[in-house]
Amino acid sequence: MKQLRSQQWYAGQGRDAYIHRAWMRRGLPNDAFDGTHPHVAIANTASDLSPCNAHLTEVARSVADGVLAAGGVPLVMPVPSLGETQMRPTAMLWRNMSAMAVEEMIRGNPIDGVVLLGGCDKTIPALLMGASSVGLPAVVVPGGPMLTGTFQGVALGCGTDVWRLSEEVRAGTLSEEQFTRSESAMIRSRGHCNTMGTASTMGLLAEALGMVLPGLAGTPAPDSRLLEGAHATGRLAVELVAADRGPADVLTKASFHNAIVTLAAIGGSTNAVVHLLAIAGRLGIDLTVDDFDRIGSHVPLLVDLQPAGRFLMDDLYRAGGLHAVLREVRDLLDPAALTVTGKPLVDYLDDADVWDREVIRTIAEPVQPDAGIAVLRGNLAPGGAIVKPAAATPELLQHTGRAVVFDSIEDLHARLDDPDLDVDPSSVLVLRGCGPRGYPGMPEVSNMPMPKKLVEAGVRDMVRICDGRMSGTAYGTVVLHVTPEAAAGGPLARIRTGDLVRLDVPGRRLDVVGPDGAPVELDAREPAPAALASFAAPARGWERLYVDHVQQADTGADLDFLVGSSGHRVGRESH
Ligand code: FES
Ligand code: MG
Repeated sequence: MKQLRSQQWYAGQGRDAYIHRAWMRRGLPNDAFDGTHPHVAIANTASDLSPCNAHLTEVARSVADGVLAAGGVPLVMPVPSLGETQMRPTAMLWRNMSAMAVEEMIRGNPIDGVVLLGGCDKTIPALLMGASSVGLPAVVVPGGPMLTGTFQGVALGCGTDVWRLSEEVRAGTLSEEQFTRSESAMIRSRGHCNTMGTASTMGLLAEALGMVLPGLAGTPAPDSRLLEGAHATGRLAVELVAADRGPADVLTKASFHNAIVTLAAIGGSTNAVVHLLAIAGRLGIDLTVDDFDRIGSHVPLLVDLQPAGRFLMDDLYRAGGLHAVLREVRDLLDPAALTVTGKPLVDYLDDADVWDREVIRTIAEPVQPDAGIAVLRGNLAPGGAIVKPAAATPELLQHTGRAVVFDSIEDLHARLDDPDLDVDPSSVLVLRGCGPRGYPGMPEVSNMPMPKKLVEAGVRDMVRICDGRMSGTAYGTVVLHVTPEAAAGGPLARIRTGDLVRLDVPGRRLDVVGPDGAPVELDAREPAPAALASFAAPARGWERLYVDHVQQADTGADLDFLVGSSGHRVGRESH
């Protein structure tokens, strides 16, 4: 084994090595510092304010036991955590900050490898971004989904069923007291959301990318097998250091190919697009938004989970889990992509059985064909926009309608339910000012509600277009991540109420057209002042740094100076 990186702190008899060792001893024996025991950090996103990750401190103990058992020195390292339901204006505003903290804490400390503990939506992306920019051996333990809770005999899906129950209260079929009582049934146990939202998606994709001990992703948070897997991961981390196998050895174009196939087959969150692009950007992998369409758009949806379907993550695990799904699409996977074990992902699929064909379908009889993300371009989205056809109304996938434009989420809330709003079921709702810079942070507001008078008339879906994101638990004919965003001077700032918008998903186009159907010269127009006015310019702090440096959604909304990697060079001495 080559010399451990931590030896650059601990080796030798000088004053500096004395200082580094002495403060770390606290019970550790001499040989903990002699260069034969890798020092493995456990990057822990546990926080009482990230309830989905609160159990990770117990998981960290199992990882630490595994590290010790394999002869390593485990070192728990708390890193910033992001609670999706708690943080305003949106947890996404801090994904890059968390990634930067993860990166710098790994690089600045005397460690040889790292185990990454995440769960709630932004935490696994941030951990993978940060660890990828350092390049030390790294492996993820996904914290896992919560158990299915039932209320009045019915299973509750996190997020998705909040909307259903709140509608029942409005309709008078559920009392407010019962509604409140359902809260603990919906969040039945430790763990993250149990629908196929962003947390479930990113946990499974971390494994599809090869960065998780094979078979572990999707294990429910309270399940003993999560702790068993955490222990095994601790052991594996020590092996990774010995083998000097870092993220760049696992994360290749081939593994992103597999992640994109997986994203479509599991019906995963649209948020995975910005997260995978940002991770790839850290590694210099040439992944583009168009790769999602090229690789994934014709992959069938095999998993019948909420929000698109019926079941929940606990059911997916019971039915055979990720490997059982991937076995169905094995021919679409890149066999060259490796996992952290050094073996290819496809090697783990042969023994994967399906125990419930209601939950995991065959490729011959999928939940839906062609389930992946489609990428649209046109005069309204020269940098691209995405849509999830499987979540849309088929008749609306080719649609031309009059735009009703809102300059901000506040403008939308103020006018949407106005009985005098000039809108009909064929209208196209356009919301701008919700991109990475415009909000700032790119919130999950793109699936804007339908105008009240149309809901009352029975309208359940309309074409909606926005430069923001959409919750992984949401649904509808929603065009998202329009690039460039309005606040960056994109054509979205130039569209006006009354313009004709033509959506053509089969043709992959999104255009503002004239009465003759020809695309309008949007560049010739001035941007609407209100569209730019919605761009808040923060005076200081993280938001200042963020708006000055955030990139557009088509490259993952990372900060420009965080793209790429700095490696794990050891800094100058501290004393
Ligand atoms: Fe944490 Fe949904 S709020 S995963
Ligand atoms: Mg979310």
